[in-house]
Amino acid sequence: MFDDLQEMNCRPTPWERYTADQLWTDPWVSSQMLAYHLDGSNAIASRGSEFIGRATGWMTGRFGLGPGKRVADFGCGPGLYAQGLAKSGAAVTGVDFSPRSIAYAQEQATAQGLNIDYRCQNYLECEGEAVYDLITLIYCDLCALSPAQRARLLKIFRGLLRPGGALLLDVFSLARFRGLAESTGYEFCPGDGFWAQEPHYVFQNSFKYEPEYLALDRYTIVLPQERREIFNWLQHFTPEYLASELVAGGFERVETLGSVAGDAYDPEADDFAMVLTAA
Ligand SMILES: C[S@@+](CC[C@H](N)C(=O)[O-])C[C@H]1O[C@@H](n2cnc3c(N)ncnc32)[C@H](O)[C@@H]1O
Repeated sequence: MFDDLQEMNCRPTPWERYTADQLWTDPWVSSQMLAYHLDGSNAIASRGSEFIGRATGWMTGRFGLGPGKRVADFGCGPGLYAQGLAKSGAAVTGVDFSPRSIAYAQEQATAQGLNIDYRCQNYLECEGEAVYDLITLIYCDLCALSPAQRARLLKIFRGLLRPGGALLLDVFSLARFRGLAESTGYEFCPGDGFWAQEPHYVFQNSFKYEPEYLALDRYTIVLPQERREIFNWLQHFTPEYLASELVAGGFERVETLGSVAGDAYDPEADDFAMVLTAA
């Protein structure tokens, strides 16, 4: 037990393990996540419904979306943005590796008669032709990827965009990073919790990596017969640092914004957005 506790409390090296699939594709956890996505009054898995409506309206005008245009929403979850974008008449593709979210998104598109091509796939393995006018990556998904994964995803985006096509994404800011504190703790859940249906203990260790502007929430879930580990890495960015990665990936910065709904950039806010074009 002492050795186990030592191990779960130790600080991993940056990006030591990638466990995003356990967070988003585990049957039990993904059902909890879907409930958070669909509860438009919280901003846990998706931003609130008022924001999403405003964002899809802004994107439709800003990128001239309509019939003849093609949009790909990466990490589309249950399709909350994809639905709004498809209502412009654009052909929308949604990519996500959560079978539960994609099944829900597909049902909704069919019921609403929307032209959305949903693909249940790891977006780090996407391939295809340069057919999209706009690619979106919303709710700071880039922040959960290591530098090597980010470079890989940007290369994929670059290959999928038409000449002059745009990339819109948002990321966590340095202001958010400064407000984080390291912590450690545990709790017992008698069952039907976020992480598991069975009774379990959850140990949480939050680490900060100051020079890298990197944060890690490490969860160790101890079940009667099993132990699971989840590493939630979050890279934080300045606009200059983000732009430098994107320029290295073959993009040109067009504008820095406060959000994917076109709000003005605020250096004190927890996140910001950027519009880029394929260079
Ligand atoms: C924070 S949620 C945001 C969902 C959506 N963009 C929104 O704002 O409503 C992140 C989404 O990205 C998906 N995701 C994370 N990593 C992924 C990967 N490597 N490949 C495909 N989907 C991924 C998750 O399944 C989840 O639906």
